[in-house]
Amino acid sequence: MNHPATAAHPARSSECPADHARLKAWVTEIASLTRPERIEWCDGSEEEYDRLCADMVASGMLVKLNETKRPGSFLARSDPDDVARMEERTFVCSREREDAGPNNNWVAPGEMRATLGRLFDGCMRGRTMYVIPFSMGPLGSPIAHIGVELTDSPYVVANMKLMTRMGRKVLDLLGRDGYFVPCVHSVGAPLAPGQKDSRWPSNREHKYIVHYPETKEIWSFGSGYGGNALLGKKCLALRIASIMAKEQGWLAEHMLILGIESPEKKKHYIAAAFPSACGKTNLAMLVPPRVFRDRGWKITTVGEDIAWIKPGKDGRLRAINPEAGAFGVAPGTSETTNPNCLRAVAHDTIFTNVALAPDGDVWWEGLTKEPPKELTDWQGKPWTPGSGRKAAHPNARFTMSCAQIPSVDPDWENPAGVPISAFLFGGRRATAVPLVTEAFDWAHGVYLAATMASETTAASVGEVGVVRRDPFAMLPFCGYHYGDYFTHWLGMGKSIAQAPRIFGVNWFRQDAKGEFIWPGFGENMRVLKWIVDRIEGRVDAVRTPLGLHPRFEDIEWSGMDGFTRERFAELTRVEPAAWHREVADHAALFEKLRSRMPRELYAQREALEKAL
Ligand code: OXD
Ligand code: MN
Repeated sequence: MNHPATAAHPARSSECPADHARLKAWVTEIASLTRPERIEWCDGSEEEYDRLCADMVASGMLVKLNETKRPGSFLARSDPDDVARMEERTFVCSREREDAGPNNNWVAPGEMRATLGRLFDGCMRGRTMYVIPFSMGPLGSPIAHIGVELTDSPYVVANMKLMTRMGRKVLDLLGRDGYFVPCVHSVGAPLAPGQKDSRWPSNREHKYIVHYPETKEIWSFGSGYGGNALLGKKCLALRIASIMAKEQGWLAEHMLILGIESPEKKKHYIAAAFPSACGKTNLAMLVPPRVFRDRGWKITTVGEDIAWIKPGKDGRLRAINPEAGAFGVAPGTSETTNPNCLRAVAHDTIFTNVALAPDGDVWWEGLTKEPPKELTDWQGKPWTPGSGRKAAHPNARFTMSCAQIPSVDPDWENPAGVPISAFLFGGRRATAVPLVTEAFDWAHGVYLAATMASETTAASVGEVGVVRRDPFAMLPFCGYHYGDYFTHWLGMGKSIAQAPRIFGVNWFRQDAKGEFIWPGFGENMRVLKWIVDRIEGRVDAVRTPLGLHPRFEDIEWSGMDGFTRERFAELTRVEPAAWHREVADHAALFEKLRSRMPRELYAQREALEKAL
């Protein structure tokens, strides 16, 4: 009979393959705090993945999808209270409150450790604690870093297998004393002997996602969902990495990375920051319009959510995608919006909170124009088009390996990274913000990114559709004071010989009738081509108070009939009244960050005000 693990009866463990004293001691320490039934060292093999998925199917945590229609794929349904990142439960516990900045929730580290100490005490009883060594970035890349996640969720292990390089090979790389970021995760639902597990264990009362900047530790309790639980992603690759990047002179950013190849086979890489669910995945996997494809233009995908960027010896910035897979938003993904993504999730994918069709395949809003006549919704309830509620949760996700993306770049795993020619910053803005604006110079680009804003979406818990300032699309992810972050960006521009150009974009401007002016999706290629033309010095631009705008005649219009000069003017118009309001809002943001705001950005704001 199983007995609950106690200090007197330590947890059973699979054979420990590590030869790393600090790692072993830490695993033992966390196990004696959380008291799991078993400890399992993950090797990252296919057999391990298959076994865990089969166990989850048997326990009801996963539904196996139709093997013919969706080979190797599964559906998970989360607790209705655990469906998104929880920004209000996310903390940066630096020693000094000021270092976390007003952009982070802060609790004194001692107080937080006491709280978490109580919550983690015995929290893995009756469960297995999995040890997941993982690399963010190609194994051994000078830009990559290693983490180890301890978790009591097999769903997390399976997702980490798709999202990161994990297991035995990472332990080998760590050797006897390699550095790793320790990440502890529990769903916070211990099991009493004989207690039946729930479909999606989590803790409805307590949820904490905690980062300690000085010791570079991550502790997450109570949620099993996405960025709250897959600790390599937002917690390590953004919040902790942003701090490491500031300390070490590089950048950890909420950016996709795409390659754009011209008919002459000249290639540029662009890194682009957008807030959550603003179409990053669609842009990263963009299929150019027919005329572009016929002429030989190509878009390739390096990453769709996060970029780690370090100065290379050649004086250029080089970027890697620290992730090996995508955890993307399913609703809205279709043959028109993102055919590459549909191909990528056609097999070997874990879906979370999408709807289940009677034939054992999946469905979500937007996948087809006509919804199926009947479905099982994301909560497992019968659904018909007349039910008056969504079949898939608006933040329903797919998890798949990047290797499955048809447009994946041949260099996506190059340990040296790819050279970045331009940065793009965009939000979802119905008004004021023009289609594309090139910054006058690096400092102006930093201003443009620091003042960007977006309408909120379902990726995080909270109100949807309100405009909020989201500097660099990093508001939920910057692990330290935003003022210091801006200073770091300004400094990076000065320290590199060939700084990328900086552009702002907005695909979402609406006309007086509330219709989107720009078609977006594949047509965004026309904007990307203009950006390349600017980098190559092939076209001039119009100087406006906001920055440099394209001339109508410099956009490639063939294959897109009927987009008139007037419509273009509407799309790129600078409305002084709206911009006076914007600038006042910039001032309000800077005021909140005043204690650490770099002077250069005040000067930029004054120059903009004057120009308007
Ligand atoms: C994400 C997000 O999940 O930004 O990528 O919320
Ligand atoms: Mn994201």
